[in-house]
Amino acid sequence: MSSNPTLQDWRDRAGKVLPAAGFGNFDPGVVIARGEGARVWDEDGTEYVDYLIGSGPMLVGHGHPEVLQAVQEQIKAGFTFFANNAQGIQLAEEIAGAMACAGQVRFVSTGSEADMYAMRLARAHTGREKILKFEGGYHGMSGDSLMSLAPEKRVNFPLAVPDSAGIPEVVRDGMLVAPFNDFDFVRGILEERGHEIAAVIVEPLQRLIPPEPGFHEMLREETAKRGIVLIFDEVVTGFRLAYGGGQEKYGVTPDICTLGKVIGGGFPLAAIAGSEEIMAHFDKAKVGAEGFTFQIGTLSGNPVASVAGLKTLEILKRPGAYEKIHANGTRIMTALGRELGAAGVAHQVVGEPVMFDVVFTDKPVKNYRDGADGNPQQADIFNAVLRQHGILKPPSKFYISLALTEADLVQTEEAIAAAAKAVAPA
Ligand SMILES: Cc1ncc(COP(=O)(O)O)c(C=O)c1O
Repeated sequence: MSSNPTLQDWRDRAGKVLPAAGFGNFDPGVVIARGEGARVWDEDGTEYVDYLIGSGPMLVGHGHPEVLQAVQEQIKAGFTFFANNAQGIQLAEEIAGAMACAGQVRFVSTGSEADMYAMRLARAHTGREKILKFEGGYHGMSGDSLMSLAPEKRVNFPLAVPDSAGIPEVVRDGMLVAPFNDFDFVRGILEERGHEIAAVIVEPLQRLIPPEPGFHEMLREETAKRGIVLIFDEVVTGFRLAYGGGQEKYGVTPDICTLGKVIGGGFPLAAIAGSEEIMAHFDKAKVGAEGFTFQIGTLSGNPVASVAGLKTLEILKRPGAYEKIHANGTRIMTALGRELGAAGVAHQVVGEPVMFDVVFTDKPVKNYRDGADGNPQQADIFNAVLRQHGILKPPSKFYISLALTEADLVQTEEAIAAAAKAVAPA
């Protein structure tokens, strides 16, 4: 084995020990060696402007010197304790102060877990079993969540379609699925079956699709009057759409929200936050054995992750931070519209300046099915040309960071111009 393995060596080694040659997350041909600011380098030293940002956590950029220093100091004091620690308590205070719904906070390690417990809490709280989710909405990898995330079959609502093998049929029976942004369908199903429904779970910005005006207000009103718990999955949107997340941006307060990504500053940390009444189900002394939601986790409230999160939030809170992220994103959204328009390509730029992408369709994208109707071949070509021009992004998202520089933005605009020509009609 060579002492200086190349990118291809790493790909070959991965092919032997990792199923599908990867961690399951991203193009396994990309093997990242290092990141700094808004750039990453692969194992051959190829440099990219990074719009993947670790799938969202690295909102202030890779290796931010202040986050790095906070982490290095904490590491000297210990890596993990299982017990309460000041760092985790301070992070919980910061979250409770920022998120309108957050009376109390419970830490876990991943967004998937946070969503799983949020749904369980709602079931414990209401004594009902069914959860209503939206087609195309992503809530992690639990059996409940892996229903109608990316269904290939278009079945009639509210039937759930499992996205994975190995999920018992009974799990499907616990889930109801609705089309996002469909006021009439949601009102109808809540009217008809509200008495069976423990929670409605929704991403405030579903993947990249904004809510129609009044949609979240309608969810809030219809759930409140039926004693249904409203869960905002803010794993992506928390501290990104605004400091106070989607609940701040859209002015609607859910009963519970889930958080992840940004709050761990790049380390494994996520949380469930909600009203004290609902969070009381984590406290046996308050609710008794019947209502108790059992929850422990080895790394919950990990102090290294907590200080990384706290410092990240401190940086985001400084004047101008969100304005800069928005300006960065707006500039790229504008370039996408301008270049694809000039090239005569049917397209929609979907999302918000903090996260967005192009869907190759002439129809507005209001729900999962509209998005799935986009032309996938054009998307593949567009993304491949961007990659050739040194732009690294997830297949269906640009994640914007605070660290992007003028040089990064100019390179991205040039790459977009080239990619738009590559998908132009002949
Ligand atoms: C909205 C949403 N919820 C939950 C999750 C799951 O988070 P994790 O990957 O930390 O389990 C994700 C991950 O991307 C997400 O985007």
